[in-house]
Amino acid sequence: METLHVDQLISYASDADKKEWETLRLDYAHERGSLKLRQSIASHYPNVTEEQILVFAGAQEAIFCAMNATITSKSRCGVVTPAYEALFEIPKALGAQIVPIPLKPQSNGWFLDIDDLKRAHVEKPFTNLILNFPHNPTGTLLSLELFEEIVNLSLINDSWIVNDEVFRGLEHNPAKRLPPIASLTPRGISIGSISKPHGLGGLRIGWLACQSPELLERALFYKQSLSVCSSSIDDWLASLVIEHSSILRRNATLIALENLEFIDKHFAQPHTKFEWNAPSAGCVAFPALRKDISVTHLANSLLSKHNIMIIPGECFSQSATNRFRLGYGQKNFKEVFNTFCNFLDMDYP
Ligand SMILES: Cc1ncc(COP(=O)(O)O)c(C=O)c1O
Repeated sequence: METLHVDQLISYASDADKKEWETLRLDYAHERGSLKLRQSIASHYPNVTEEQILVFAGAQEAIFCAMNATITSKSRCGVVTPAYEALFEIPKALGAQIVPIPLKPQSNGWFLDIDDLKRAHVEKPFTNLILNFPHNPTGTLLSLELFEEIVNLSLINDSWIVNDEVFRGLEHNPAKRLPPIASLTPRGISIGSISKPHGLGGLRIGWLACQSPELLERALFYKQSLSVCSSSIDDWLASLVIEHSSILRRNATLIALENLEFIDKHFAQPHTKFEWNAPSAGCVAFPALRKDISVTHLANSLLSKHNIMIIPGECFSQSATNRFRLGYGQKNFKEVFNTFCNFLDMDYP
């Protein structure tokens, strides 16, 4: 997402907030996150209180602690693939059995075949389901009906169900926004972040929301050996961000939608080099190149020649793929995309 500057963010602060900011004591922040921050996060989660929110140094730390708190070498984890690396690699490193639940490309996007999931669950129930909707890298958003069906499957044997929701709030049609998983079931763990939806990756604040006190204590135990607490500067600024989250997410979504319109026009051309499976949320998509070439090699060459980064499919637990992740959340996207297409014409005719 387009990154914000400190002065842009501070311009949202009231006079009282600005005074508080200037005199902020640089002490350790509370290990669970400040009360103010947890209260503002909890206000976005029906059925969840501030005691059920735990703040971390980024969603990445929240994922690590949530996984360590719920997964052992005896676990059987159903993981939606392609997958953001941590969601696949951490359970694998903990020795769990990993069963991919593939998203499948179709002409107007991607779909999850619920029968695949049911079959695997009936064969031997999952102890953990690891979801990520809105999804990175495909930009897929499930329908509420399908999402609830998956939650109901998890209830059969009380499996833990994590949903990485860091792209929540960037739905292209806000009416399609899913409820947080932590609001739907006591074994649901929602992962959230300041960075992704607001273009604020430099504020290292993420969180998990869960109704289970045992899970919260176990996750905190792991955090105590990692960051211990977040930076008090980040904690303070994150409260300001959450207070103005709706407008910040709306602005970010408008940039993404304008870029998407541009991409749609390009991919509608008959000579396009890409297979396009349109995203419905977030600022990333996972197109394929209609050429039998190494996307990893291409990505390295694009980076060194033009300083443009695409992420090859193999980084998303997809071996041998001609897919890559395309980010379209930045204001200079059109210019960069044209450079990318010219590079393809010249170097990969
Ligand atoms: C799906 C997903 N989850 C979690 C993260 C980590 O987010 P954070 O920057 O808050 O650590 C990312 C970052 O790229 C992500 O794409």
